[in-house]
Amino acid sequence: MTQPSDHIDNMLHETRVIAPSAEFTAQARVTREEYDRRYRQSLEQPDEFWSEVAEELHWFAPWTQVLDWQPPHAQWFVGGQTNMAYNALDRHVARGLGDKRAVVWEGEDGEVRTFTYAELLGEVSRAANALTELGVQAGDRVTLYLPLIPEAVIAMLACARIGAVHSVVFGGFSVSALADRINDAQSKLLITADAGYRRGKAVNLKENADQAAALAPGLEKMLVVRRAATPVAWQEDRDVWWNDVVGSQSDRHGAAPLDSEHPLFVLYTSGSTGKPKGVQHTTGGYMVGTYLTTQAVFDLKDDDLYWCTADIGWITGHSYSVYGPLLNGASILLYEGAPNQPDWGRFWQIIEKHRVTILYTAPTAIRSFMGHGDEIPARSDLSSLRLLGSVGEPINPEAWMWYRRVIGGDRCPVVDTWWQTETGAIMLTTLPGAHPSKPGSAGLPMYGVEPAIMTRSGEELGPDEGGLLVIKRPWPSMLRTVYGDDERYRKTYWGEIPGVYFAGDGARRDSDGYYTIMGRVDDVLNVSGHRLGTMEIESALVAHPSVSEAAVVGRPDPIKGECVVAFVLTQDGQQIDPAELRGHVTREIGALARPDAIIVADALPKTRSGKIMRRFLRQIAAGQPIQGDTSTLEDPGVLDKLAATPAV
Ligand code: WTA
Repeated sequence: MTQPSDHIDNMLHETRVIAPSAEFTAQARVTREEYDRRYRQSLEQPDEFWSEVAEELHWFAPWTQVLDWQPPHAQWFVGGQTNMAYNALDRHVARGLGDKRAVVWEGEDGEVRTFTYAELLGEVSRAANALTELGVQAGDRVTLYLPLIPEAVIAMLACARIGAVHSVVFGGFSVSALADRINDAQSKLLITADAGYRRGKAVNLKENADQAAALAPGLEKMLVVRRAATPVAWQEDRDVWWNDVVGSQSDRHGAAPLDSEHPLFVLYTSGSTGKPKGVQHTTGGYMVGTYLTTQAVFDLKDDDLYWCTADIGWITGHSYSVYGPLLNGASILLYEGAPNQPDWGRFWQIIEKHRVTILYTAPTAIRSFMGHGDEIPARSDLSSLRLLGSVGEPINPEAWMWYRRVIGGDRCPVVDTWWQTETGAIMLTTLPGAHPSKPGSAGLPMYGVEPAIMTRSGEELGPDEGGLLVIKRPWPSMLRTVYGDDERYRKTYWGEIPGVYFAGDGARRDSDGYYTIMGRVDDVLNVSGHRLGTMEIESALVAHPSVSEAAVVGRPDPIKGECVVAFVLTQDGQQIDPAELRGHVTREIGALARPDAIIVADALPKTRSGKIMRRFLRQIAAGQPIQGDTSTLEDPGVLDKLAATPAV
């Protein structure tokens, strides 16, 4: 594990401050005064604050206690009963929004499907009835392995409606990654599709699902959506077509009243050690957190068409493509495919065609667009946009400025939102009408969030001092545990620095209270905004017959933020075929984890106790001179040799 120094140097000297326009501020949901007042209330009278927010939603039974905090375990809205799907659908239909568009979906092939709130409620009800017929009960886990099609959203909401716990696995993950997640969650049902479209090709998901099912003995049924007319293998006693079993159901279904702490979903994410962990979120707190943050951060209004480009395989897709906006009765846009299909203008064409008003995307995408020039976005009419958001990794100030100028026409505020799979909802951001932005800095804490910058030993640091980002009190949408491994939950999040939540990121706070994230301080890479553990990739590499040992580090990358560099030792002097090894990692984990550079080494820099010094490997990977004390190494000569070895 990296040894973060207690103080992290500040390399970035960015001084631009960009205030929202008077016009935006005048119409904004939250003003500066409002933020100050509510933020103060959220810390000083948290029970009152959170009750007021939660009361805007529907509860079948009221809570008796807002927070029960038995560190490190929190329960929110204790004793309350509610239902996520009811709040995201029925509640809006009941208040007369049945005819409002809930989902506008565009397939990669240009097909458009639209669902009003009443229609979506009908579809979700049918799917909920179907799940029940398939034997799924409250508390059962259901794995979803789907393209970004409306059925994915319907399936998530149907699970939530009956209290089944969904575990969405990104469609780009490999067979073994899928099988591991099905097994860890002990899912009985897998919902998948015959195929999904990606860059014009139908990617056969059912084939992967079949192979994963062969490795997952506990899996009983597979529910298959027909998306492309691709031929699939069929196992009569196990497989059912979505259309057959969902299509025939009644479109009425009473949402189950569920305990506030009933698990809503598990989502696997990478950590610095071991296999990916199932981050577990519960119903009431997550609902309140995503509802509040979506409304405040995205300044949602009745006539907005809101587009978050994240796939539902990631937390951003859960909280801000699906749950948060639907809880607010917003119209959301979903797009199935790649940003460069048929060309790099696709996003801008979608915005023009549907008149999207709010766009939330990732820095890696922004940098790719930027790399293709200003002319492509200039071809589309982007005047419908009024607000832009960024998430997933630090956004460099140049990309921030480009986003604002070229996509936002210099008029749209840009919010840079910091949060994590584990936090469930946005934690640090500016509010678009309330606060000026500082490019590259996420901004201020959201309501109820009490961050601090600390040293490893828990000493709080002052303004402009780089250190570890921690959160000092629980918040409603925080993870409750790691599925099946509460010990890991305790250790990873509340045990590193006793008494506070340790996020794994380095950060600093300036004298205005703005937080700037300086990147991960553990062995987690952030590749194109996606978290990958170095350990996971190393395990995949050594699983290859010609590799005996491997060390993986990240290297700064102009588009992806970080890319994967692998140092490998060969087994008995065997040859390494780089293409074959890359293919192997893709098969083991997924294309995201494929190493950009592979360095075939004779030895790795190790301490006398056998610990790999990744710090030096990072310097070598980045082509930097070796800096730091090499005297603890068993053989410092290894470093020069590695630096002189060309990557393959
Ligand atoms: C990073 C994604 C800087 C950070 C929502 C965090 C960010 C990890 C930002 C979580 C941001 C996310 N600025 N860094 N605005 N947003 N990160 O779990 O390192 O996929 O710890 O959640 O992404 O990644 P995750």
